Amino acid sequence: MEALVLYEEISQLLTLEGVVQKKGRRPVQSDLGCVENACMVVNADDNLIVWTGKGTDLPETYKNLAHRFSGKGQVWIPELVECHTHLIYGGTRHHDFALRCEGQTYQQIAAAGGGILTTMNATREAPPELLLEQAAKDLARFQKFGIGTLEIKTGYGLTLESELRALEVIRALSDQAAMILVPTFLPAHATPPEYKGRTDSYVDLICAEWLPEVAKTGLAKFFDVFVEDGYFSPQQAHKLFLCALDHGLKLKLHSDQFTSLGGTKLGIELGAFSIDHLDHISKEDIRAFGESNTVAVLLPGASLFTGTPYPPARALIDAGARVALSTDYNPGTCPSRNLPLMTTIACTQMKMTVPEAIAAVTYNAAAALDLEDRVGSLIAGKEFRVCTLDTDSYEALPYCFGELE
Ligand code: NIG
Ligand code: FE
Repeated sequence: MEALVLYEEISQLLTLEGVVQKKGRRPVQSDLGCVENACMVVNADDNLIVWTGKGTDLPETYKNLAHRFSGKGQVWIPELVECHTHLIYGGTRHHDFALRCEGQTYQQIAAAGGGILTTMNATREAPPELLLEQAAKDLARFQKFGIGTLEIKTGYGLTLESELRALEVIRALSDQAAMILVPTFLPAHATPPEYKGRTDSYVDLICAEWLPEVAKTGLAKFFDVFVEDGYFSPQQAHKLFLCALDHGLKLKLHSDQFTSLGGTKLGIELGAFSIDHLDHISKEDIRAFGESNTVAVLLPGASLFTGTPYPPARALIDAGARVALSTDYNPGTCPSRNLPLMTTIACTQMKMTVPEAIAAVTYNAAAALDLEDRVGSLIAGKEFRVCTLDTDSYEALPYCFGELE
């Protein structure tokens, strides 16, 4: 019993027990497991939750624990999970934004040599120490917004050497951060200039040489592809995915951001853990999501920042899809690390309810990373990872307009 710690008098605590039972589908208020005047018992040795519930139901054995702290006046929700970022990059993209404000589209700017390739050049030139320093600053900012688990994609190097360098930076960050970091290999983010007009050859190179090499290092958990007009086709993604699966990587996909090409159907069929963006998803694919375990990751900040339509969150949730929210933090389409603000946008612009938004940045975001057994809920057996709000209700999270205290 030595290692047990009791947290008592927590004014309000969300366990998300019902959300866990429903695997994140159609979450309603009662699924949040909202407990007033709650207690939590934690094993300090392994940092796992031992018991959580109403103070009046606290079992006799835990009542006299010596290590105890009060959570009076606090709201406890699971630490937030950020399941889609492009956090390793050099340079800036202020000018892309200025051009968009003059009427140019994301695709037009990219076709003229801007977009992802601007960041690729700056990233290739950046010394690893600088990438590490900038990324560490970004992580500190994410932490301020209540985030404890975060996914990071490569995709701004686009040579084997620079993609590996990005994965090594993520590993170095993991070693020094209190956060759980999840690395994703995204070489098919854009065709690098060396392969201009030869995207099929680039895909072959990734399959023949890069994936085996990256798999050998063990530095990546997921493999992602940007399926979009002017980037990669569903056929190219199919080839890449089969190869990534062969090398033991799990799948993620950027799909239906600006156009609907058929990537989503492929991702669901191949059991991707998440398919992200979905701003232009077809009705048929919305139905397919309802019957799959693949998480639909919606990125309202990218829509806001590029001035493009929001994804159909209501239709997806009503169809039974598991819906997560994320910033998509990257220099081109969403330079914000403010995940709570994304919940505000999702509620007001995409008509999500507060319980849906809370589930979307906790349990469902954890499911998008295959981590829902560890984080995203506050029930016995899960990690003691809490986001503490100095307010009177969890409803403050989307309400606070990103100004989380
Ligand atoms: O998720 N869509 C592709 N990738 C990023 C944008 C990357 C960039 O423009 O630098 C996104 O929006
Ligand atoms: Fe993205």
